[in-house]
Amino acid sequence: MPGIAVIGAQWGDEGKGKVVDALAHDADYVVRYAGGANAGHTVAVDEETFKLHHLPCGVLHDRPVSVLGAGMVVDPWALIEEVDAFAARRDPGTLLLSSEAHLVLPHHKKNDEGGGFVGTTGRGIGPAYSDKARRLGVRAGDLLDDEVLRERLERLLRGKPNSTARVGWTDVDAALRALEDVRVRLAPWIGDGGARVREALARGERVMFEGGQGTMLDLAYGTYPYVTSSHPTVGGILTGAGVSHRALGRVVGVVKAFTTRVGHGPFPTEVHDDATLARLRGTGANPWDEFGTTTGRARRVGWLDLEQLRYAAELNGLDALVVTKLDVLSGLDELKVGVGYAADGSPVYETLPGWGEVAGISDRAALPAPLIAYLERIEAYVGVPVAMFSTSPQRRDTYGEVAWPDAPAAVAS
Ligand code: IMP
Repeated sequence: MPGIAVIGAQWGDEGKGKVVDALAHDADYVVRYAGGANAGHTVAVDEETFKLHHLPCGVLHDRPVSVLGAGMVVDPWALIEEVDAFAARRDPGTLLLSSEAHLVLPHHKKNDEGGGFVGTTGRGIGPAYSDKARRLGVRAGDLLDDEVLRERLERLLRGKPNSTARVGWTDVDAALRALEDVRVRLAPWIGDGGARVREALARGERVMFEGGQGTMLDLAYGTYPYVTSSHPTVGGILTGAGVSHRALGRVVGVVKAFTTRVGHGPFPTEVHDDATLARLRGTGANPWDEFGTTTGRARRVGWLDLEQLRYAAELNGLDALVVTKLDVLSGLDELKVGVGYAADGSPVYETLPGWGEVAGISDRAALPAPLIAYLERIEAYVGVPVAMFSTSPQRRDTYGEVAWPDAPAAVAS
């Protein structure tokens, strides 16, 4: 049976974790295929809030195997810390780190400090992918073999003598010593992630591909150069998880009811007036306010950009949309949505009526009519059905469902 993909349809932080989390209780495998600790998923379960960076949200459930795919760049120290912190609260289950995944090493983080002109998350992501492309990278599987690791480190130190020396990796023995502990911890997790996922698909098991970042941050198709260094779009799944196109039975795009972006770069529907800005961003008092999970930076916020969303739907072949955070728009008299751009690139807006409070409503029929009309406008413009939407950070305030490819698609609005 083919799997299901959950992809961010904007600039990241769309609330993918919540959708993945809702699907994960039926999943056998949850696979991350791109990015690394630049991702930050916040998932609220009852009164508890979990923040995940490398780990797929499947860890919040007992059953699925969590796979860190070959397309990822994994910070060994941060991964161990994350697993240990998680394990102190819940059993993380089975973790599989693909041997082809690249390691984020100390010089990568050093070289990413300050975020540069892109305003990166500073997690060493770009430098790690850059070493990968230059054939200087060290992969997870290299940690398993003394000789291979020594050879890889020699090449790295020869290729980048200055930046490695700056973090104390002055010779191969120093580098080996620095990696000693993480090799022991990571070894039991390392394996052929791609083969395991392909076998699971062939057995008819349920596989979910969990995207990090978002479509507009794609290295090729996003707002280059203000992008991440991987491919969060659908194409990244094939290379990043080691599966063929047949692995994709349904592709789901997650979209926030408005738009946010962290870091620099184009954002046509960004708002600058203080009242709307404060309204959409929140104060930072709640974990779901618009402040970065990974960096704590205040996110830029703006109106929903339907033309941008249409592009994401076309590029990824979206079968269904999930709309999150509708509650944040509650109480605004009217809402704007971008419906294309003028010749100078500025957005053209359509104005839609707002709605009142939705907190505490748990019956779909009792939801305000303008909220349903908002969802219908999205569907009509983008040409993709809204399968699921949410009106609070809690699991219980989620309407509709995203169905697995072996079940008929559910439509929420
Ligand atoms: P990098 O991925 O750390 O190299 O950052 C590149 C760009 O992607 C920056 O604008 C970051 O703010 C943005 N970015 C990376 N990961 C995320 C994410 O998970 N959510 C939102 N923005 C992200």
